Amino acid sequence: MKIVKKTSEIKEILSYLESNKTKINLIPTMGNIHDGHLSLLSEANKFEGINIVSIFINPTQFNEIADLENYPNTFDNDVNLLSKNNCQIVFAPEINEMYPGGLETKKTIFEYRKILCDNFRSGHFDGVTTIVKILFDHINPSNVFFGEKDFQQLKIIEHMIIENNLKINLVKCPSIRGTNGMSLSSRYSKFSENDKTKFDQCAKIINDNLSDLIESFDFKILDKIKNDLKSIGISSIDYCEVRSEDSLDLSSINKDSRLFIAFYLNAIRIIDNFTLY
Ligand code: PAF
Repeated sequence: MKIVKKTSEIKEILSYLESNKTKINLIPTMGNIHDGHLSLLSEANKFEGINIVSIFINPTQFNEIADLENYPNTFDNDVNLLSKNNCQIVFAPEINEMYPGGLETKKTIFEYRKILCDNFRSGHFDGVTTIVKILFDHINPSNVFFGEKDFQQLKIIEHMIIENNLKINLVKCPSIRGTNGMSLSSRYSKFSENDKTKFDQCAKIINDNLSDLIESFDFKILDKIKNDLKSIGISSIDYCEVRSEDSLDLSSINKDSRLFIAFYLNAIRIIDNFTLY
């Protein structure tokens, strides 16, 4: 496995691969590799070509400096894990390689905005689409792999590919969940022992109510989730809503819909979504 830090070097490698008609599978990450990322890699293995995992903690998608500073950086461990999981290239550029002209973002995608996380993380998705487009431009992948955990991100990137007429196949990969039923996330590596216990309590509340919601849809269950979470000290809940998977509009039926939830456990933001069918 090769570790590449410079865009000039990745370009050189890619032009060689292109001349051999080798297809590129790209898995963009911000590191702190866990089983969720590894499941994207094993999905990539089903496609011909070589697998590139990018590791770049993108400053422009953090709307709070403390969040960026606290983001886990576990590069050596990440490289070790990736080398054992059929990754051929790790692309881990410095900030100035990705943003040579400074940390600027562009708002280019207006679809699936002003809802869910976009209402609470101003500028976040502009940072995401900016860096993902930069990565796409540098790497020119045939297939890209994104997890359904960040469902709104996935929809926005899918739209970006369509809007820009990019010849990229977006592969949507289901969330990998821990034993408590919640999707894995790099942020959770920052949990204290107390946080872990509280997180399991939150998971139980969500899962118990989810079963009721799946059995028979009722908006009162959404209030119950919020109240149950508040009763164990979760005071900051950004949203708890049912939306259509296709349009991300609010939904009042289970068919093709998901429960979307975001809340804070101390300073750590938790987001997840669950199919209701
Ligand atoms: O989902 C993530 O880890 C990030 O938002 C991404 C897509 C790698 C862009 O920085």
